[in-house]
Amino acid sequence: MATNIRPMIKNDKAAIEKILHATPEFNSAEVKVALELIDLYLKYGISSDYHMLVAEIGNTAVGYICFGPTPMTEGTWDIYWMAVDPRQQRQGIGRRLLNEAEVGISKTRGRLILIETSSKPEYEKTRKFYESCGHEIIARIPDFYAPGDNKVIFQKKLS
Ligand SMILES: CC(C)(COP(=O)(O)OP(=O)(O)OC[C@H]1O[C@@H](n2cnc3c(N)ncnc32)[C@H](O)[C@@H]1OP(=O)(O)O)[C@@H](O)C(=O)NCCC(=O)NCCS
Repeated sequence: MATNIRPMIKNDKAAIEKILHATPEFNSAEVKVALELIDLYLKYGISSDYHMLVAEIGNTAVGYICFGPTPMTEGTWDIYWMAVDPRQQRQGIGRRLLNEAEVGISKTRGRLILIETSSKPEYEKTRKFYESCGHEIIARIPDFYAPGDNKVIFQKKLS
């Protein structure tokens, strides 16, 4: 069945919540924050400063991406969060979600996309994913999240 990318609606929340809980990379504090951002978006739309897209197969959300303009910058955007149902990974859904976010950012004259992630081995596939989507590492902050767990910052310049 075809995968469709569209803005998140209230009915998507239960499926996305399940995906977040089923994602081994996320701890319960991270899931809580991810859900708080979803609630803000579902209440206030993009005036929350968060944008949310979902990937759906049939009528079921199988992944989502959360991004928004970085406060106090001109044309810089952050990708805050994304997840694809572990049962549906490695089928190009994450790439489509990120690409659609980039298209949306370009339309607002966004010029720079930043993504922060962890250096932990559990996030290796995530780092490979960003690299394969054309994002490059521009900075590392040692011991940022915890001793031995560095912050890795990716960037992509839009032309
Ligand atoms: C990161 C994530 C969103 C990628 O979604 P996905 O739908 O599986 O990714 P895609 O199928 O679009 O992969 C695109 C490319 O990324 C790379 N990639 C993706 N998963 C990979 C893996 N497990 N190992 C190595 N490379 C990988 C590959 O180059 C892949 O292209 P290919 O399959 O043609 O080789 C997904 O793995 C996920 O939800 N991870 C857990 C949550 C997370 O880390 N979120 C991001 C931080 S908030």
